Amino acid sequence: MSILVCGGAGYIGSHTCVELLAAGYDIVVADNYYNSCPEAVRRVKEISGKDFRFVEVDLTDAEKVEQLFAQNPDIDSVIQFAAYKAVGESVGKPIEYYTNNLATTLTVLAAMRRHGVNNLVFSSSATVYGDPEKVPIDENCRVGGTTNPYGTSKLMNEMMLTDCCKAYPEMNVALLRYFNPIGAHKSGLIGEDPNGIPNNLVPYIAKVAVGALEKVHVFGNDYPTPDGTGVRDYIHVVDLAKGHVAAIKKLEQKPGLFICNLGTGKGYSVLDVIKAYEKACGKTLPYVIDPRRPGDIATVYADPTKAKNELGWQAQYGIEEMCADSWKWQSMNPNGYKG
Ligand code: UFG
Repeated sequence: MSILVCGGAGYIGSHTCVELLAAGYDIVVADNYYNSCPEAVRRVKEISGKDFRFVEVDLTDAEKVEQLFAQNPDIDSVIQFAAYKAVGESVGKPIEYYTNNLATTLTVLAAMRRHGVNNLVFSSSATVYGDPEKVPIDENCRVGGTTNPYGTSKLMNEMMLTDCCKAYPEMNVALLRYFNPIGAHKSGLIGEDPNGIPNNLVPYIAKVAVGALEKVHVFGNDYPTPDGTGVRDYIHVVDLAKGHVAAIKKLEQKPGLFICNLGTGKGYSVLDVIKAYEKACGKTLPYVIDPRRPGDIATVYADPTKAKNELGWQAQYGIEEMCADSWKWQSMNPNGYKG
C-alpha cells in the first residue's frame, strides 16, 4: 500500500515525504513543479536513502490524474498539499487561485472515488479562522471571515471535504490547520525556497541574514501585544511533517471527518523572532518599523490540545531550533535549490 503525496516537492510536502519514508510508508509523489523543483525530490531521496515513484503532473488534468491512479493501484491514502499559496498574490489573481486550489482537490477526489481510495489528509491553514474569536484558537472556534482568496480557497476546500464526508460515509478526511511553519530539515538539504522577495517573515529574515536583502521590515509596532508587533505560533516544519504521519495513522482508525490544529500553542512576536534568528546566525540583523500590512491580525496561536489527545502528536522543537535550522538551510543554500 502507498500514500499519494500531491505537491510533495514543495516546502511542507518534501519534509512530509522524509517523515513518511522514515515511518516506513511507501509513497508516490505527484507535482508539476509550479513552485518547486526536481532537486528537492532528489534531496528527499538522499536524506531518506530510499527511492520512490514520482509523477510530474498538473493535478487539475483529470485524464492524467486518472492515469496516475490506474498505474499505481496500491495507493490507499492521499495527502493533498498541491495549491497556490501566496496570500498577497491571491488578491490580484482570484480566478487563478480559486481555479487551481479547488480543481486540484476536486480532480483528485473524483479519481479517489473511482478507485475506491477513501483516506485524505488536507493541507489547511489557521487562516480559516479569520480574525479569531479568541486565542488560543481551538477547533470549535468559528471559521470564516477570511480576507483573501488564498484563505477563502482553503475554507472552501474544507467545506467541500466536509460535504464529501457526509455524502460518502466510507471516507476519512483529516483537515489539518497549520499555524506558521518555518525552519528546515536538520540536514540543511531541504527547506523553504520562495521565488523572488519572500512575503513571509522568516524567509525574509533569512535573506537579510545571508546578505541578499538589506534589512527586515517590521509591519507595525502598535498592535495590542507585549512589544507592539504581531504574534504568531511558529512551528518547526519537521514537527508539522510528523503531524501528517500521525494524521495518516489516525485515518487508519476510520474516524470520518477529523479536524485538527497543528501548532505549538506558543506565540512569538516579530521582534522575538528577529532576536532568535540573530542568535542562530551570530549576526545583528538590521530592521525598520513600517506601517501595518493590510489584512494582518495582532495575535494568532493555537490551542494544540486536540492534536495531543487525539493524534498523540505534539511539537518538539522551540523557536531556537526553528531559527537554527532555517539558518543552516539558508547558509548552505544561499540561492535555494538553484545552488
Ligand atoms: N511580518 C513582518 N515583516 C515581513 C513579513 C511578515 O513584520 O516582512 C510580520 C507580519 O506582520 C506578521 C508576522 O510577521 O505579524 C508573520 O507574517 P507571515 O507573513 O510570516 O505569516 P502570516 O501569519 O501572515 O501568514 C501565515 C501564512 C499563511 C497562512 C497564515 C495563517 O503565510 O499562508 O499564516 O494564519 F494563511
